[in-house]
Amino acid sequence: MKALVLNGIKQLAIEDLEQPKPQDDEVLVKIVYAGICGTDKHLYGGLPGSAPAEPPIVLGHENSGTVAAIGKNVTNVKVGDRVAIDPNIYKDDDFYTRTGRPELSDGLSAVGVTRDGGFEEYTTAPSSVVYSIPENVSFKAAAMIEPISCVIHGINLIKLTPYQKALVIGDGFIGQLFVQALQSYGVHQVDAAGISDEKLKKMKELGAVETFNTLKDDIKSGYDIVVEAVGLPATQKAAIEMAAKGGQVLMFGVGKPDQTFEINTYEIFQKQLTIQGSFINPFAFEDSIALLQSGNIEAESSISHELSLEEVEDCLEGKIENVNKAVVKVSD
Ligand SMILES: NC(=O)c1ccc[n+]([C@@H]2O[C@H](COP(=O)([O-])OP(=O)(O)OC[C@H]3O[C@@H](n4cnc5c(N)ncnc54)[C@H](O)[C@@H]3O)[C@@H](O)[C@H]2O)c1
Repeated sequence: MKALVLNGIKQLAIEDLEQPKPQDDEVLVKIVYAGICGTDKHLYGGLPGSAPAEPPIVLGHENSGTVAAIGKNVTNVKVGDRVAIDPNIYKDDDFYTRTGRPELSDGLSAVGVTRDGGFEEYTTAPSSVVYSIPENVSFKAAAMIEPISCVIHGINLIKLTPYQKALVIGDGFIGQLFVQALQSYGVHQVDAAGISDEKLKKMKELGAVETFNTLKDDIKSGYDIVVEAVGLPATQKAAIEMAAKGGQVLMFGVGKPDQTFEINTYEIFQKQLTIQGSFINPFAFEDSIALLQSGNIEAESSISHELSLEEVEDCLEGKIENVNKAVVKVSD
């Protein structure tokens, strides 16, 4: 079968690999779509994702496809089912798992990070992370269940009520998901800030009330919820400054490992702020599937590029222009 193998830092090659066989508790999935995420750029460049990737490895952790075979203990899906794969595989015997926060365990494993993922025609995953998808959710949208689940995990970590006004800083794919998710969880007004007029127009189409281009507009502060979805020190600092009294700031963007920014600590005290981090996507796949099924979140129109396995490297190298979100069509 055809696979895109990462053999070392920035060393990708199309190879002919033997089709994997599922273990007793595993599912073999014929991959239809695999999304390309910022984390793939990090892994390609030798940096860790939710865990380090050890070459040779096949990346791709945003996967949808059809069940091609199942191990003898698998009961939740059958051959032919349309599915999405949650990449994250948690440990049962860990303090953090036992206290309801499995994502914080050390030594996480993940499909497309520590074991072969979706940039190949067939991949295996434990049945516990394989989810059936409804008929009205396309394979392309289903490949977006993983990033949607990261957004839903972030939302689960803060307290939302309808009176709140929210600001999403970051007009990329993740910001576009947050604008929709916050509305579907009842927040009455969601505004958005970014640096691209085109992407901010998309934010309005997705329901943002006011949009700000931070290169030319001043943002009014006073938001009950601020989501930082860029990952730069300047936007992280701005996120705290934009929060109202009693505000909650969701630090979702991923900065460099040694990145810092300046905070006015008196402001945290005086405004009684909550600053909340968010890491990957536990317990969020079912809600994400339901949000796609009901149409409360729509992901396909945010996908700007459909690529082949051969084009992935150009995308990771930033050689493809105007990418809002790219997916790889792996097979039919
Ligand atoms: N916490 C998690 O589990 C998790 C999961 C997925 C992604 N992320 C992170 O979320 C962030 C957003 O992801 P994405 O896929 O949308 O990335 P992206 O690169 O597509 O989007 C980032 C956006 O930020 C905008 N931007 C740049 N500078 C800005 C500024 N000064 N003010 C406002 N907007 C600005 C850009 O126009 C771009 O559209 C990234 O840091 C990513 O690593 C976190």
